[in-house]
Amino acid sequence: MKIDPWSSTTYQDYARLRDEFGIQEFSEDLWRDLPHPHRLLRRGVVFGHRGFDRIHDAIQNKKPWAILTGLMPSGRMHLGHKMVIDEVLYYQSLGADIFIAVADIEAYATRGFTLEQTKDLAIQEYILNYIALGMDLTKCHLYFQSKHQDVKDLAFLLGKKVNWSQMVATYGFEGSTNMAHIFSPLVQTGDILHVQLKKFGGIRPTLVPVGVDQDPHIRLSRDIAQAHRLYNVTVTKDDKIGVFVKVDTQVKELLDAAEKLLYDHRFTDLKRITEYKAIYLPHATEEDITVLDEALARIEPSFQGYGFLQPASTYHRFITGLTGDKMSSSKPESAIFLTDSPQEAKKKIMNAKTGGAVSLEEQKKSGGKPDECMIYELFLYHLIEDDNELHTVYDSCKKGQLMCGNCKKRAADLMERFLLDLQEKRKNALEQIKDYL
Ligand code: TRP
Repeated sequence: MKIDPWSSTTYQDYARLRDEFGIQEFSEDLWRDLPHPHRLLRRGVVFGHRGFDRIHDAIQNKKPWAILTGLMPSGRMHLGHKMVIDEVLYYQSLGADIFIAVADIEAYATRGFTLEQTKDLAIQEYILNYIALGMDLTKCHLYFQSKHQDVKDLAFLLGKKVNWSQMVATYGFEGSTNMAHIFSPLVQTGDILHVQLKKFGGIRPTLVPVGVDQDPHIRLSRDIAQAHRLYNVTVTKDDKIGVFVKVDTQVKELLDAAEKLLYDHRFTDLKRITEYKAIYLPHATEEDITVLDEALARIEPSFQGYGFLQPASTYHRFITGLTGDKMSSSKPESAIFLTDSPQEAKKKIMNAKTGGAVSLEEQKKSGGKPDECMIYELFLYHLIEDDNELHTVYDSCKKGQLMCGNCKKRAADLMERFLLDLQEKRKNALEQIKDYL
């Protein structure tokens, strides 16, 4: 199995994805004790993560952390795209420092758009809607890839630690793939890691909330971040914790600096073996690794290193299209666009696939199937905030008490309210954005 970020595959078997790619389960202990956990976290829509523990820790201990998300301006914004922004808005309320990349280089390289075209699409379809949804642009860093010199520099420089074989293994590139496309994952790595440059807030935990199709980019960014580190903290073969210098210059100075730091962390019984470029910590435990790794990262810039912490990620399920297959901008009847009129949305909702039985009789007798229903999914992902209310819908559908017609009507009403409100807010957004751009 391979994940191709540029294909239109849908991924159904999320447990299998976790197993095959080593994605961790987004288990309850990661969100239960967060302030007012977001519905997408509570309801298992966010199903997996890499390294979220570090973000959890930053939130709980009120330490600085950042979020980087990106949008590909290559079509209209629909409910599927809204999920990431819902998540970002939630994390912003918890104090995250927000960065938003407009992936115009990627759209140019992989979708055949001109940069000019992507600019209009990005503003009209995405940015206006982000503001309407509640994003305060004065409190976040929004940029276009093609205009961000530091991101592009990083893309180029970080490429030093990836080779062609890795790129082929990760993305399936071929001899005929154009070079701009081949380079675009490095630009995304630049997006993800630049927030840890001193100029943009420095070394700190970073979260990238995405759909699982983006996992190859996440793996690449995490590998690259690690590859550029000067120190490595790890468990040795004989179950001890060791700090190792990974480079061959300034080894003594790096060991001196690490030794001092370790003393400050009360590891006074450490054993330094300079020829091995190693310091062993007989009494450290695995729990110490993250803390030490982070502390060591922060001294790397004084040795011309980046000290990037591996970025964390979360993965959300894809919302199913109203037609029962993928929600896609290229199939308007499958998607509700944020710029749809309530009438258009209503029509799509009325035609949507539900979990209803063949006849009303039958449904009253044996009940409906909310788990296979696109309307229920709209409620679950977007339209019903209250968990009890959602449960009631689920139960009464299963028991054959709630019929599809009623549910559709309710969904259409809720959607109408949402879309009208958004329309109104987009009008004001245009004003804000003028100043900003
Ligand atoms: N590749 C993403 C997409 O196809 C867009 C993107 C660019 C992005 N840079 C990013 C997403 C950084 C997350 C983080 O939609």
